[in-house]
Amino acid sequence: MNAPTDLAAFLAEQEKKSLLRFLTCGSVDDGKSTLIGRLLYDTKLLFEDHLAALERDSKKFGTTGDDIDFALLVDGLEAEREQGITIDVAYRFFATDKRKFIVADTPGHEQYTRNMATGASNSELAVILIDARKGVLVQTRRHAYIASLLGIRHLVLAVNKIDLVGYSKDVFDGIVREFSVFAEKLGFASIVPIPISARFGDNVIASSPNMPWYTGPALLSHLETVDVETALADKPFRFPVQWVNRPNLDFRGFSGTIAGGRIRPGDAIAVAKSGRTSSVKRIVTMDGDRDEAVAGEAVTLVLADEVDISRGDVLCAPQARPDVSGQFAAHLLWMAEDELLPGRQYLLKLATTTAPVQVTALKHKIDVNTLDQHAAKTLQLNEVGYANFSTIQPLAFDPYRESRDMGGFILIDRFTNATVGAGMVDFGLRRATNVHWQALDVDKQARAQQKGQKPVVLWFTGLSGSGKSTIANLVEKALLAEGRHTYLLDGDNIRHGLNRDLGFTDADRVENIRRVGETAKLFVDAGLIVLTSFISPFRSERRMARDLVGEGEFVEVFVDTPIEICMQRDPKGLYEKAKAGQIKNFTGIDSPYEAPDLADLHIKTEDADAATHAAAIVEFLRERGYIG
Ligand code: ADX
Repeated sequence: MNAPTDLAAFLAEQEKKSLLRFLTCGSVDDGKSTLIGRLLYDTKLLFEDHLAALERDSKKFGTTGDDIDFALLVDGLEAEREQGITIDVAYRFFATDKRKFIVADTPGHEQYTRNMATGASNSELAVILIDARKGVLVQTRRHAYIASLLGIRHLVLAVNKIDLVGYSKDVFDGIVREFSVFAEKLGFASIVPIPISARFGDNVIASSPNMPWYTGPALLSHLETVDVETALADKPFRFPVQWVNRPNLDFRGFSGTIAGGRIRPGDAIAVAKSGRTSSVKRIVTMDGDRDEAVAGEAVTLVLADEVDISRGDVLCAPQARPDVSGQFAAHLLWMAEDELLPGRQYLLKLATTTAPVQVTALKHKIDVNTLDQHAAKTLQLNEVGYANFSTIQPLAFDPYRESRDMGGFILIDRFTNATVGAGMVDFGLRRATNVHWQALDVDKQARAQQKGQKPVVLWFTGLSGSGKSTIANLVEKALLAEGRHTYLLDGDNIRHGLNRDLGFTDADRVENIRRVGETAKLFVDAGLIVLTSFISPFRSERRMARDLVGEGEFVEVFVDTPIEICMQRDPKGLYEKAKAGQIKNFTGIDSPYEAPDLADLHIKTEDADAATHAAAIVEFLRERGYIG
């Protein structure tokens, strides 16, 4: 097909064809970009100026002499081209008479596994490239595993550079055998091995005369005919509400994209979380009302009744509802330089919901090369783990294997806003759903009233030796002398009891502060003025501790002492030892301290003595009405 002149006719033609989204993966030298370039070139859906540029660039950067270097068609950015590797995910479009295709080209480097995950999450098929000379490599297994994890059910094993092994059937068979043994555990619906030469075009577009022993399809014929129907429209109805559409008082609709099933006016629906039910009155679209809409379509639903629904709610079929739980187990692919810290709060985005979430238990991590499971306390960049998650509010979801839209999620760092992980829900954990809040007659207010004070957490943070405990201790003494009801939680003491199982890795510190935060919350509920004295080096966990209690019940006290002074004081001789390398992960030496940006009280210990600071804190409590 030539580049079309009549665009409208061309687009109308394309519209009728089915679409296959696929992903290519392989390591740097497997010839992946060359393969995609050839698919694009030989299907002739390239524009003239694109081709002219390609010929120019082939001379400049190419690795194929005067031939056209197809890889250059695909490798997008200048910098990448010059390095001769592909980074990030590039999407290409091409079409044949039978089908149209979107191909996600993802890089093969280990550190770019996260890019592969990005490309895989909406692909239906993966083409895994193997260099015939090298056979099944570590990354071949990794790619196959991640493809299966992300719900890809169909695989093509493209054994490339077959020309360089003399078009050998034995080499091909050996690779297929080895790969099949591994892939058996991954449960793909189809695996089609094809011997190809991307460079010379063997078995790419048409069957190659160089391999009479191969009787299967050429790659393109397979891509044109493979049946990947997932039949989302036949699944139970799922409609994550993107926004409430309320242009005027007479109209109230819920807009979003149907994630599963189909809907007609008159159909009953339920709101997954609240359990409220209604029925669909109208299906509104830009092109007028519809009498049916199916998965994949963006519509606005008007309901027959006034039901309380907001963004993040999921409308569903009443007889086939999603899970609703605050706890679930999921696979997690970690995509950040900073390790995963179980216990830390991240933001979860699932369908149209955004909610704070914690990993409550990292069950194991998975060696993606062998599929072995290993015990783990954290996940590093590109590692895959299996974990239990917990959100404060219940969430509506489906297992990922049933719905990518309702079971796939990402995790976001609350401070940097970066995407740090991609998750696939395995199943909801019902264990905790039988535990309900016990309504008690005596509540926080009653307890506080009896004590004549407003409960609060005074959260002291600062380096070891900064003077936190000294000042906190004086504050508590002064309060007690006034007849106040207090409790002091101190790092060294808690680490002998409640937290004696924890050390000083980042993960352990997160858990340390999580438990202290929860404990402080209980004491606040008891009506007490709680003083906590912990280094608490991370902003994230101090924020979490703040969020655990009510508005105005948390006062962050930054005990600010320069590290040089802490080192001079060195009350426990620990800095000395840390500098000598006898203590690892010591705050300020080889473990970070994130100073508060906006503490409620900023105490510079050099400016006055501890008693003066303590008196000022008591005064602060009086001014703010915590004590009378
Ligand atoms: S935190 O970082 O998790 O908040 P926490 O306040 O409980 O720490 O404990 C800090 C105390 O443990 C320090 O005051 C010091 O006495 C002792 N300690 C022992 N090893 C370390 C270490 N590697 N880093 C910091 N403090 C340590």
